[in-house]
Amino acid sequence: MLTHTLSQQSAHYLHLEEQYGAHNYHPLPVVLEKGKGVFVWDVDGKRYYDFLSGYSAINQGHCHPRIIGKLVEQAQKLTLTSRAFYNNLLGTYTKYITTLFGFDKVLPMNTGVEAVETAIKLSRRWGYAVKGIEENMARIVVCKNNFHGRTSTVISFSTDPTAYSRFGPLMPGFDFVPFNDIVSLEKAFQDKNVAAFLVEPIQGEAGVVVPDEGYLKAVRDLCTEYNVLMIADEIQTGLARTGKMLAIDHENIHADILILGKALSGGVLPVSAVLANDNIMMLIKPGEHGSTYGGNPLACAIAMESLQVLIDENMAENAALMGELFRNELNKLHSPLINTVRGKGLLNAIVVNHPNPEAAWDLCMELKENGLLAKPTHGDKIRFAPPLIITKEQIHECVDIISHSLKVLN
Ligand SMILES: Cc1ncc(COP(=O)(O)O)c(C=O)c1O
Repeated sequence: MLTHTLSQQSAHYLHLEEQYGAHNYHPLPVVLEKGKGVFVWDVDGKRYYDFLSGYSAINQGHCHPRIIGKLVEQAQKLTLTSRAFYNNLLGTYTKYITTLFGFDKVLPMNTGVEAVETAIKLSRRWGYAVKGIEENMARIVVCKNNFHGRTSTVISFSTDPTAYSRFGPLMPGFDFVPFNDIVSLEKAFQDKNVAAFLVEPIQGEAGVVVPDEGYLKAVRDLCTEYNVLMIADEIQTGLARTGKMLAIDHENIHADILILGKALSGGVLPVSAVLANDNIMMLIKPGEHGSTYGGNPLACAIAMESLQVLIDENMAENAALMGELFRNELNKLHSPLINTVRGKGLLNAIVVNHPNPEAAWDLCMELKENGLLAKPTHGDKIRFAPPLIITKEQIHECVDIISHSLKVLN
């Protein structure tokens, strides 16, 4: 394990967190206090490229002036009404987002995992009310190595023991298929009790696993053929990250249920959304689902601005171009220490080729020393996902930092 010295100031904040906060994360030892665009600064004033972007919540860049402007403006007017009353922004927001993504209705929530929970409830309800599945028999097919969040229902269909073990009893009703395997999916669909298939268009937490071209289109066709709802979890892949507004747009398909989160607020506050047509959404009646903060006026104002910023600043196009450049430049390094470079748009990862199991962590520590922040996922993989406003010159500079930092593994 590499050791880099920490300033006294950084050590102070780090130890406070360690002493009084639960140890449910293992952060890189850097203490940040400011962000602007693609950059963050630590408490000692050192600047870094942010190549994690809050796990893709900060697609628009840190503290985007238009989004922060809306935040301040709306925060001074009205922040929360609860859904006991109407507010003057929720209607406008629901019209805006449903028009943008082509659905009849939206159900607003806060965190990503709450939106996943919502999609599960909706699809089970549809299974009973429309498909005619016998009560309590509905099944949802999910992929191995998925990541959809950390509530007790959602960890019940994780295949990662760190996520689920010793948190049981787990929620029943989920079947597993390998990701990117259409034959197994069709087998799973033979069960008439299957209501839905929940899928990440690219498996983010698993290490940016991109399926074969045509897989998602084949999933769509199979779901239609077997009368199974296709639920696309675009919490990480959506909102321009992969070079299109949605990752499923690469295959020109439409999900039955679309889940959005993260960059829906540009990293300002937890805002998530579930979109579906009336034949699904209208099955939920008052009192059957909700959340105190879901659809609050502050979130509505911020979400509309965050989406419009993505469009106005052509962030999907930039993600496509810069992503291509980034992967090409990384491949050009021909480093024996990089096994694989993969990704789409600006959702990318490398697999580190080194006998030391700590190599990816050590590389991230060295990247940090050299002014670039990234985090290993699942041991030997490092995700590279900068804000979508990154420029060509900055990509070249970052590839130089990566190239230089790889030397630490020699
Ligand atoms: C695909 C996907 N679904 C769901 C979630 C959970 O979102 P949240 O952490 O906001 O609950 C994440 C978070 O990383 C994710 O990547």
